[in-house]
Amino acid sequence: KVDKGLRPQTLAEYIGQSKSKEKLKIFIEAACNREEALDHVMLYGPPGLGKTTLAAIIANELNVNIHQTSGPAIERPGDLASILTNLQSKDVLFIDEIHRLNKMVEEVLYPAMEDYCLDIIIGKGPSARSVRLDLAPFTLVGATTKAGRLSSPLRDRFGVINRLEFYNKDELQEIILRSAEILNVDIESHGALEIARRSRGTPRIANRLLKRVRDFAQVKADGIINQKVVDSALKLLEIDELGLDRIDHKLLKTIILKFGGGPVGLNTLAASISEETETIEDVYEPYLLQLGFLERTPRGRVASLKAYQHLKINEDVKKRNLD
Ligand code: ADE
Repeated sequence: KVDKGLRPQTLAEYIGQSKSKEKLKIFIEAACNREEALDHVMLYGPPGLGKTTLAAIIANELNVNIHQTSGPAIERPGDLASILTNLQSKDVLFIDEIHRLNKMVEEVLYPAMEDYCLDIIIGKGPSARSVRLDLAPFTLVGATTKAGRLSSPLRDRFGVINRLEFYNKDELQEIILRSAEILNVDIESHGALEIARRSRGTPRIANRLLKRVRDFAQVKADGIINQKVVDSALKLLEIDELGLDRIDHKLLKTIILKFGGGPVGLNTLAASISEETETIEDVYEPYLLQLGFLERTPRGRVASLKAYQHLKINEDVKKRNLD
């Protein structure tokens, strides 16, 4: 993950996601005025768009503490109970990858979210009793790359649901210029725009590329990042004009050259390029779908005409493969 230093601390500093920001600003102000905990917030969208950053900003704007954990880290109901009983009034509990909570833990979360209480079973067998324990009011901020994977009882308990969108190149340019200032890097606006174009709509990637291009500029040029330096550096990193890397290329070429353009099932595709299905779904596909290079159909993934054009592969290979 990026340096804490690059993460904005307030909504005013946070660039892009104007819809989410506008809504959150109102809900935070309203909760503060009522002196109540903010309703539970769900943030979803592809990785690297700022879900964790936004959770920290929400806590900061509410002027409360944030406790951070993740779905897979909470193994047993008791783990969650211990986290919940340690929260102070109106604190934020941030659970990343919340779709990976197990069922038993989820069951503890429902009454906690709904009524700020815990149902604890004391004893075993016929003498077992259930005891209700009150919790301090809190705000759960849940983040996931897969909103569809959430159980509906969990989803229904979030009062605010925000989908984070890919950033446009102007927003990314602004983020890169801001980061460059913090990192004390010399950069021209065209250099920043060129990095922005190749960052797949994703601030985490923009910040990573900025650091690698800075290294390149320092060693191979005069330390100043301009468009030419970005071009050379990204050529070395095998990142193309649209920000696609070797794995994106391999994925598209496999669909086109090995499977006649598709449709090909996700599992088959993953095995062919030796990647995890999860990585393909969460990391690679969202941007390829956004570019319109890839389509998801009920029978599998299909490469679109745009993908052929970008890879400079004649669409005739499709017909030839099918013969
Ligand atoms: N760094 C990473 N994401 C950012 C954002 N949305 N705004 C400002 N800086 C960022």
